Amino acid sequence: MKTLYLKAEDPGTVETAAKLLRDGQLVAIPTETVYGLGANAMDEDAVLHIFEAKGRPQDNPLIIHIADPADLDTYCHDIPGSARKLAEKFWPGPLTMVLPCRDLVPKRTTAGLDTIAVRCPEVEVTRKIIRAAGVPIAAPSANLSGTPSTTTANHVLHDYGTDGKIAAVVDGGECRVGLESTIVDLHGDIPILLRPGGITPEQLLEVLGDLIVDKAVISQVTADEVVRAPGMKYKHYAPKGDVTILQGTAEAVAAYVHANQTENMAVLCYEEELPLYAGLNAISYGRGDDLDSLAHGLFAALRELDESGYRTIYARCPEAGGVGYAVQNRLKKAAGFHILEV
Ligand code: TXA
Ligand code: MG
Repeated sequence: MKTLYLKAEDPGTVETAAKLLRDGQLVAIPTETVYGLGANAMDEDAVLHIFEAKGRPQDNPLIIHIADPADLDTYCHDIPGSARKLAEKFWPGPLTMVLPCRDLVPKRTTAGLDTIAVRCPEVEVTRKIIRAAGVPIAAPSANLSGTPSTTTANHVLHDYGTDGKIAAVVDGGECRVGLESTIVDLHGDIPILLRPGGITPEQLLEVLGDLIVDKAVISQVTADEVVRAPGMKYKHYAPKGDVTILQGTAEAVAAYVHANQTENMAVLCYEEELPLYAGLNAISYGRGDDLDSLAHGLFAALRELDESGYRTIYARCPEAGGVGYAVQNRLKKAAGFHILEV
């Protein structure tokens, strides 16, 4: 069986994708954050296929994607007012909420937890597919475990090939945000930020008034630590080369890189700084003065670095305000929190 390539705008795409999902198959779907590897969240066998295809540990629960904010009550109970407010303000959009889970959701989907992560994505074709399938879609980021997330349909085909390892990919173009959704845990007394993303901490605080940042967001956690988001203990977003974040002015960083050249070295920098690295391997991931462009370009740039086989990678990293917080989080993870002041 060949993997079907479905264009978002083609007639028949929604019905074809929905039927495959109802039949228990894997379909990669576009969202505004990253591409997801989707399966029927209510079908344990289908969900098992996600873990197998991705090479994902089964203790790492999945996010379910719903077509309409009102569907939240079907899968969650004891929904606090704060969750309702967030849904009203940010859904459809790049926000995932962790809430108490109703019994109808298979344990395989939640990895046995009594909470579930839910999100209503922004991309129209994906919500149409979910609606047509008549079931919520469980979807982790579609990358193979341990590789950078997929922000184009081509990234998905690169990871899974075209010989049927997944049934189909729906091409909805480049993902608008480019980083995975913001995850906020709302099942306890105080909301906890489990993963920063396109909805910023500042935006959350405006609605919530109070927000704890989980320690897995700001520091390296090891495989045997107990963490709130099980996915956080696994080494994510890790390029094949060793990444070091260099902090300092553009000139100081460039001077450091020039003075510390090694074979097979590359620089991940801002577009406007490319001239500083003339003669070296430099890849830009966006403009330093445009955080959205950095979020949008980061994973594609990390994939490019992997393809080229660089062993040493020096990276520029933005300040933490707004979506810069999420960019910083992904880069720090890619660097194993290895940061050097220059
Ligand atoms: O933007 C996104 O969220 C993308 C797109 C496809 O929607 N999905 C995504 O899924 O990033 P994934 O599986 O790569 O990351 C989900 C994270 C994992 O770290 C997982 O451990 C955590 O969410 N998670 C899922 N359910 C949870 C729960 N009940 N409690 C705490 N963390 C949970
Ligand atoms: Mg992921």
